[in-house]
Amino acid sequence: MHIALVGMMASGKSSIGKVLSKSMNIPFLDIDKEIEFHEKRSIKSIFETNGESYFRKIESKIITDCLEKKISTVIALGGGAFLNAAVRKNVNEKSISVWLDVNIETIITRVKKNKNRPLVENKSDKEIMKLYEKRLKYYEMAKIHIDCNKKNKTICAEELISKLKKIGINENN
Ligand code: S3P
Repeated sequence: MHIALVGMMASGKSSIGKVLSKSMNIPFLDIDKEIEFHEKRSIKSIFETNGESYFRKIESKIITDCLEKKISTVIALGGGAFLNAAVRKNVNEKSISVWLDVNIETIITRVKKNKNRPLVENKSDKEIMKLYEKRLKYYEMAKIHIDCNKKNKTICAEELISKLKKIGINENN
């Protein structure tokens, strides 16, 4: 069973995903990285040249391909992927979805440090907050919820592993 990490940008999907992958001994896939590899350019350049709707199409195709893999994988989705009903359905059928919940104040601080997120570039705190509020109901649809506030990535991964064990998901199954 794949494990799909969802949540706002900068919620720790990649960093917690890597810890999880190591601890559970299953491979890690970052959808943003897969998109960049497939397109041979950065996410920022895809947004700038072809716009968001083009990006979303590629994103959903790459997610579909990754979910087809026979080997169980930890998959870090981009922050907007789970908003799409078809993606969400596919993710929930072929993986266990996990929402990494981080408060919006922390998200805002983190995204300001990284310039490779075109969707929030030049956006005010209020606008980022609005985006988050619009997205919450979708993130809440994930099967597992991990409160990541004031916890480091190892603790978050440990909490997730223990929740996964309770529903019978262990290493390599
Ligand atoms: C996006 C999040 C990004 C990336 C793209 C759009 C979003 O991924 O997919 O910039 O809509 O929230 P991260 O969540 O890994 O930053």
